Amino acid sequence: MKSSEYKFSYEVYDSIDELDEQDAFLLNKARETTPNAWAPYSRFRVGAVARLKNGELVIGANQENASYPAGICAERVLLSTAGATYPGQPIQSIAISYEGDGVSGDHPISPCGICRQTLQEFEQRTKHPVRLILAGKTGQVYIIPAASMLLPLAFSGDELDVQL
Ligand code: THU
Repeated sequence: MKSSEYKFSYEVYDSIDELDEQDAFLLNKARETTPNAWAPYSRFRVGAVARLKNGELVIGANQENASYPAGICAERVLLSTAGATYPGQPIQSIAISYEGDGVSGDHPISPCGICRQTLQEFEQRTKHPVRLILAGKTGQVYIIPAASMLLPLAFSGDELDVQL
């Protein structure tokens, strides 16, 4: 037996004020996007804004449904929009923020498991890392160099006998 270790590094900033201009712009856009969520059930509104490699911006916000599992997270709304609007175009960075009734919103949240799976396949298919900028309405900002770092030992299309 031998043991393996998985480690990853990410950046922690005290606030948006420490970010460079481009990242601060994207995070402010994500914060502005949270009201676009349709979240009458959870009352937790997530906004996501991507800068693509071609410089275009794409947004996403969570969209819920009375049949709860039919709802979709902000990150996957964004990835679907990016894929449909600019096929094959890599994403450089996504900023993700949130606000909710009765939550302080003073710390970063990170993508759920299904979104991590979807993000890592988006990286694979565009052969480009998706950098994440995570923050609440206020407080610390985390920058993760590649979304796939959040999903060690991921299942991927490589296991299926399919040529992409
Ligand atoms: N949600 C997101 O949109 N992104 C996340 O990273 C976490 C959760 C949404 C799903 C649901 O509409 C609401 O937030 C509460 O879970």
